Amino acid sequence: MSTHTQYSIKTAVSSTRILFGLLPGLGALILLRMAIHLYRPDIEDAEHRVRDYPFENLYDCYDFIIVGAGSAGAVLANRLSENPNWNILLLEAGQDENVLADIPVLFPALQTSAIDWQFVTEPSDEYCLSMVDTRCKWPRGRVLGGSSTLNAMLYIRGNKRDYDNWANMGNIGWSYDEIIKYFVKSEDMRIPEYQNNPYHGVGGPISIEHFAYEQPITGKILEASQQLGYKIIDANGPSQTGFTRSHATLRDGLRCSTAKGYLRPVSKRRNLHISVHSLVEKILIDENRRAYGVKFVKREQTKIIKASREVILSAGSIQSPQLLMLSGIGDSEHLKEVGIYPIVNLPGVGKNLQDHVAMGGHSFLFDNPYNNGTDYCFNLNSVWSLGNLIDFAINKKGSLYSMMEAEAMAFVNTKYQDPVEDYPDIQLFIAPTSDNMDGGLFGKRANGLTDETYAELYEDILFEPSFSIVPLLLRPKSRGYIKLKDGNPFSPPRIYANYFEDPQDLKILIEGARIVQALVQQPALQALNARPNPHRNPGCTQHELMSDEHLECQARHHSLTIYHPVGTCAMGSIDNHNAVVDPRLRVYGVKGLRVVDGSIMPTIVSGNTNAPIIMIGEKAADMIKEDWMQGGIDIIQCDRKYKQNEEAIEADSPNRIRLSQLGAPDILNETASLFPELSKGFLPTTNKRRSNTTLLTSLDNNRKKTSLPNSYNPIDHYHSSDVLNTYDEDRKNPKILQSYSNKIPQYSFKSNPFGNTNIMKNSMPVYSSINPFTELTERDKVRPFYARKPYYKHKHQSNNHKSFSNIRKPQNVQNRPNESKKKIYFKTEEVISPKGRKECKIWLYYDGMKYKVTI
Ligand SMILES: Cc1cc2nc3c(=O)[nH]c(=O)nc-3n(C[C@H](O)[C@H](O)[C@H](O)COP(=O)(O)OP(=O)(O)OC[C@H]3O[C@@H](n4cnc5c(N)ncnc54)[C@H](O)[C@@H]3O)c2cc1C
Ligand SMILES: *[C@@H]1O[C@H](CO)[C@@H](O)[C@H](O)[C@H]1NC(C)=O
Ligand SMILES: *[C@@H]1O[C@H](CO)[C@@H](O)[C@H](O)[C@H]1NC(C)=O
Ligand SMILES: *[C@@H]1O[C@H](CO)[C@@H](O)[C@H](O)[C@H]1NC(C)=O
Ligand SMILES: *[C@@H]1O[C@H](CO)[C@@H](O)[C@H](O)[C@H]1NC(C)=O
Repeated sequence: MSTHTQYSIKTAVSSTRILFGLLPGLGALILLRMAIHLYRPDIEDAEHRVRDYPFENLYDCYDFIIVGAGSAGAVLANRLSENPNWNILLLEAGQDENVLADIPVLFPALQTSAIDWQFVTEPSDEYCLSMVDTRCKWPRGRVLGGSSTLNAMLYIRGNKRDYDNWANMGNIGWSYDEIIKYFVKSEDMRIPEYQNNPYHGVGGPISIEHFAYEQPITGKILEASQQLGYKIIDANGPSQTGFTRSHATLRDGLRCSTAKGYLRPVSKRRNLHISVHSLVEKILIDENRRAYGVKFVKREQTKIIKASREVILSAGSIQSPQLLMLSGIGDSEHLKEVGIYPIVNLPGVGKNLQDHVAMGGHSFLFDNPYNNGTDYCFNLNSVWSLGNLIDFAINKKGSLYSMMEAEAMAFVNTKYQDPVEDYPDIQLFIAPTSDNMDGGLFGKRANGLTDETYAELYEDILFEPSFSIVPLLLRPKSRGYIKLKDGNPFSPPRIYANYFEDPQDLKILIEGARIVQALVQQPALQALNARPNPHRNPGCTQHELMSDEHLECQARHHSLTIYHPVGTCAMGSIDNHNAVVDPRLRVYGVKGLRVVDGSIMPTIVSGNTNAPIIMIGEKAADMIKEDWMQGGIDIIQCDRKYKQNEEAIEADSPNRIRLSQLGAPDILNETASLFPELSKGFLPTTNKRRSNTTLLTSLDNNRKKTSLPNSYNPIDHYHSSDVLNTYDEDRKNPKILQSYSNKIPQYSFKSNPFGNTNIMKNSMPVYSSINPFTELTERDKVRPFYARKPYYKHKHQSNNHKSFSNIRKPQNVQNRPNESKKKIYFKTEEVISPKGRKECKIWLYYDGMKYKVTI
């Protein structure tokens, strides 16, 4: 039998076994959800949860619009709405936090769930070679709290020098001494020994604790670290070199996301409106290059809302640059490539991408010193026990409170880093488990490891006691970038991680792995017979175990993101050609627009990124307050006529829609919807991922088939009249938008009448004038794409916007011959297909987009 066949059999056995584990996995989660409902109202927290502001009641105009309710966006929403004279709108694409996200042990399960954007990098020959399609998975939170709702909760501020370096690069105001107060302000340190300590704060919105449950093996690893000569330190204190039990963003042992810390306490503020399921498609920029609002879609209805002062992008390191580019801000050449009219040429947008990359698969086996059946490390089999469930539900303790990816961590210096500088170049994550201990249910899926790699590495040591110590590179020299795939705001951008592009990065990582080896040799761990996993990555079997070549091969195959992409809208001084924002986080070349999130970091910090991004949010809020305190002119006078209306609403507070249900939730459906991957094929009620939203045909094809001139670029239309003309019309008559939204019947399609692509949107106010920026042909000019009246009239033209569900849906194009006569919306063309069949092509111009339907 060839080795290859052996692989296949082992792989088949392994993947079948995992498949059969999925449903029990889901079952356990449902049980846990039920236990929370019955016993843990503190987790349900129904009274304080964020409520959704009804779509129909949103104002036309706010002082500030914040895009994204993540680590930074939630902070801004809280701090800016402290000023009662400012109306703030917070738009978040995702849903409310699910109660299961509170439970530390479920951290790996949240990846690939419905609250994860599930980005993947472009395939590579250099890294993530053991991942499916050689793509690394890049999870990101699509939920209130953003990535802080699905992260590993580790609380690390980075190194003092990181910030001093930012300041040295010309970023005035960002030196460590100037920013530490914001770390302190946001913190509620609950670990008693650090409470009376100038480096820590008490009473801030984000509480910090140790994980409430620790596996015994973690203590042994910390003991070994001291034997190797390291100190146990406060990694968020005066010095960073050493080992530490992890500080974590936890409240009473449960996740403290920025949604919990910053939004729940203030979400009923009269001047803060939070709208979930609201995906911003673009920032609207007028001909004076001033951001004056956003266009967003909520449940297939589109709306434009204006900002009288600022639009603030806090969509994270992947989507903030994406949104800038979609709005015409970025490298002009690239924007033209994807058919977007460039408004501001800022070549730095999407560049300078940095991430913490780790060498995965660093698993060690050991002998359990207990011989009474009690585990010494994390073991999924025993965590899913009735006893643990009861412990969790009733006694509020037990191993469901453990976060097994990094109960402890270290910051260490390789031979390339002078230890005197106290500027460690490697971080170690100390995990009292390894991927063999969950049977492949969560860790494997989260990282996207191929079936074959999992089978080879772990199938033979399934549930044997193990731990892993993962070295990660703190300051990579390699830089990646993000580009648009096309002009469709629903298309995920292309991510080029470029790990190890600079060879020095690999050298440092290999040295990091050597430190791990030295640690495992210490008496405390040798007493447990700690030893490396004898099974090698199937891509690296040709190398001698633990040789440099083997370690390099392992890093390239088992590359792990530590989920810290930053730098894609880098802050820098005006003379820095690649800077996207200035040190006050204002986008160069555009007025009224800031970026506030991880993307503004000019260089990645030496540690996990959540705490630094919360700090960035705190500092930005202060800068914004300062800037407007010194005066400034509102670009638009927000019409406050709705104010009284809103007062009525507030008196009747349930008008803010509860996101979590009162009474018995539909636990089965809710949980299955949250974990579509686990319930795939088993349950009918899974939440479909946002359906395929690519245009029905490739836009390039459209161009060829209809022999349109090259200057005719369909995407320009998407980016056209609704936006700039809205502004033009507004300028002539500021009331026009508002009057349109009152008069024009709102309608929406629950589904696309032409198929199952999710492309239809409700009517926007429509205008016939032409976008002055797009190049249109003569033909286009005489036949504009926008009509003043939407075609599908909706019977219930009342002001009662709640009647959306009664909307009459168009049936299908064939049955509605009158429609094709409305040339403004449709163009038909009869063609003979290659097979001799007659085909009718219909081009639909809808809401600025062009669709093709073939019948
Ligand atoms: C799995 C994982 C584990 C991690 N572990 C840790 C850890 O242990 N410790 C740590 O410090 N850091 C950790 N991180 C990193 C840290 O959580 C992130 O760096 C940080 O949360 C990012 O903050 P942000 O504000 O830049 O973006 P996010 O928090 O990602 O917020 C962006 C928000 O914008 C929303 N959004 C995006 N596009 C749009 C749009 N078009 N319209 C409307 N809304 C939009 C998103 O849904 C999201 O809610 C982890 C991250 C992940 C993903
Ligand atoms: C097993 O032994 C350990 C160490 O003595 C002890 O902490 C644990 O409670 C024991 N478990 C059981 C089930 O007795
Ligand atoms: C399950 O939940 C989804 C999403 O919340 C919802 O659309 C669907 O109607 C629900 N199904 C049932 C059977 O309740
Ligand atoms: C989306 O549709 C396009 C065109 O029909 C198709 O090529 C693509 O594979 C689809 N993507 C998904 C994820 O279904
Ligand atoms: C087409 O429109 C005319 C008037 O506009 C109407 O009388 C006729 O019934 C319509 N036909 C169909 C099939 O709807």
